[in-house]
Amino acid sequence: MLDYHNPQLILTSSKATNVEGNVFWRSPSNIAIVKYWGKHGQQLPQNPSISFTLQNAVSETSISFQAKTDKNTPHSISLDFFFNEKPRPDFANKIIKFFGNLQTESILPFLSQLHFTIHSKNTFPHSAGIASSASSMSALALCLCSIEQQIFGGLTDESAFFQKASFLARLGSGSACRSVYPIMGWWGEMDGIETSSNLYAIPCAEWVHPIFHTFHDDILIVSRGEKSVSSRAGHQLMEGNIYAAPRYQQARDNMIALKNILETGDITAFGQIAESEALTLHALMMTSQPPYILIQPGTLSIIEHIRTFREDTGLPVYFSLDAGPNIHLLYPDDIKDVIKEFINLELRAFCQDGLIIEDQVGKGPSRD
Ligand code: PMV
Repeated sequence: MLDYHNPQLILTSSKATNVEGNVFWRSPSNIAIVKYWGKHGQQLPQNPSISFTLQNAVSETSISFQAKTDKNTPHSISLDFFFNEKPRPDFANKIIKFFGNLQTESILPFLSQLHFTIHSKNTFPHSAGIASSASSMSALALCLCSIEQQIFGGLTDESAFFQKASFLARLGSGSACRSVYPIMGWWGEMDGIETSSNLYAIPCAEWVHPIFHTFHDDILIVSRGEKSVSSRAGHQLMEGNIYAAPRYQQARDNMIALKNILETGDITAFGQIAESEALTLHALMMTSQPPYILIQPGTLSIIEHIRTFREDTGLPVYFSLDAGPNIHLLYPDDIKDVIKEFINLELRAFCQDGLIIEDQVGKGPSRD
């Protein structure tokens, strides 16, 4: 059984006074095809999930670290956090809590021995209605692994490095654990998939058909506004949802079916599962107590147009949804020109300020 508790990751007194360094990671957002919705324990999923790793919607995070000078607070976390070069105490407090848990649980006990200066920014526009926790938490987790590597050595094996980064990212934000891998990430235990785990995601690129490696995901921004109900609250409401048990079974069944579909490159079957999962996610919100609705009239109009266009043309273009009103338009690379025209003629009018973020399946995180 894998154990990331490691009380040995602590600086000796000579090192604790002169250690310093810098790390940087760029890490992407992701869009789940089978959704994670409902959790238990310490950020453990109620069902397995799988997502496309994106290419353009990324967070860039750099951390410089040095020995802490204030020796009166040996167990507290010391950091300054800047988002887009401006101090953000609200984000800083979240990271202090995240680092504090990693320190007290002896996962990264050295975190209280250092002072950190963290700079982060996103390539996608602020308030575009895109959740940034997957990209930002995975970037932060990758930086922590690089810091561990610089100070203590170890994590030299690439798969061990990314597995630990995925584990740490999960503790920050569940879906973030899938973002550390190129093409697709799989998170959650499943019979028959021996390496699968609830603790971290695993890579999928090797067995996913090449047609999906160049898939597009254009994000149609129906609303740039903040969500009225957070993902955290949404996960919690699954605890009282009368459809929870059949939903978790449906997700497991969809994962089994999708594994085969992704291997064989069956785009039609892929699209059916992607759309069913998106609508199920929002149906779960509507059947929570209290019920709530995050899709908007524009979301439904776009879905109608996509379905009509598909029937009329026979082209394989499908949608997915995150926990919000924005549409993720999914299609293979060979039809990109005709889809661009379709978007401009029929879909852009439903987007707030005409905003669309053109993205595609990506190569995963990078250090430069
Ligand atoms: O990682 P969280 O807690 O923000 O939850 C994400 C949930 C969905 O984005 C709706 C689905 C998923 O699997 O990414």
